[in-house]
Amino acid sequence: MHSFILGALAILNGLAQGHIVITYPAWRGNNLIVNGDFPFGMQWSYPCGGISPTQNRTAWPLDGSGAVAFQPGWFRGHASNLVYINLGLGEQPSNYSMIMVPVFQINAPTENPYPGTVCLTQVSLPKGVKPKKGDLASIQIVQAQRHGAALYSCADIIFTDDLTKVPPVTGANCFNSTDIDVHNINIVKDSETVPGVEQYSY
Ligand SMILES: *[C@@H]1O[C@H](CO)[C@@H](O)[C@H](O)[C@H]1NC(C)=O
Ligand SMILES: *[C@@H]1O[C@H](CO)[C@@H](O)[C@H](O)[C@H]1NC(C)=O
Ligand SMILES: *[C@@H]1O[C@H](CO)[C@@H](O)[C@H](O)[C@H]1NC(C)=O
Repeated sequence: MHSFILGALAILNGLAQGHIVITYPAWRGNNLIVNGDFPFGMQWSYPCGGISPTQNRTAWPLDGSGAVAFQPGWFRGHASNLVYINLGLGEQPSNYSMIMVPVFQINAPTENPYPGTVCLTQVSLPKGVKPKKGDLASIQIVQAQRHGAALYSCADIIFTDDLTKVPPVTGANCFNSTDIDVHNINIVKDSETVPGVEQYSY
């Protein structure tokens, strides 16, 4: 990872802008928007790209792993970026400090906008998180750009023990596009500690 950061600094040129669309679970809404309230674009706004929690919650398996799918290639400048997936608990999470998937790197073939999806099929809950049926939470995806700024989007979930309520994860909504490389993925398993990554808060 260290050598990647040095490498990324070495090839840094010009302004790189990324943007993510979360496709599973359903995201809070379209925040690919620039307006008077968000002159730099909504998605740069911590913690969830300018959109508050919604009523549109996707059922998430109580016992742990669900899928997270997103399209990292909206707008220019996504060829290389870092992605983080975090969890916030409650209807209005007070923080998104709980790591679901430690930082990983995405490399795409071009700085121009590109189609394509990354899907992690088995994203488990952070260590020590033991929700009850009906508990609410939000999943945050952070996409850090080469210049250091980050883009934020969230999806709201509700924990269920009834797997028939969980929208099916299929080859149509959960797949990896072959031209997007995903590196250093290290999904947190409830039973294991992740070397070099600690639970921390801001
Ligand atoms: C709510 O989520 C569903 C997918 O679960 C999506 O199809 C729909 O567009 C969402 N509604 C709103 C208002 O975002
Ligand atoms: C973050 O939220 C969790 C769940 O609500 C809570 O247990 C934890 O203390 C919070 N951390 C901080 C730094 O506020
Ligand atoms: C996509 O790639 C990641 C990283 O290699 C992997 O963890 C995940 O399972 C893949 N998704 C699918 C649907 O194969």
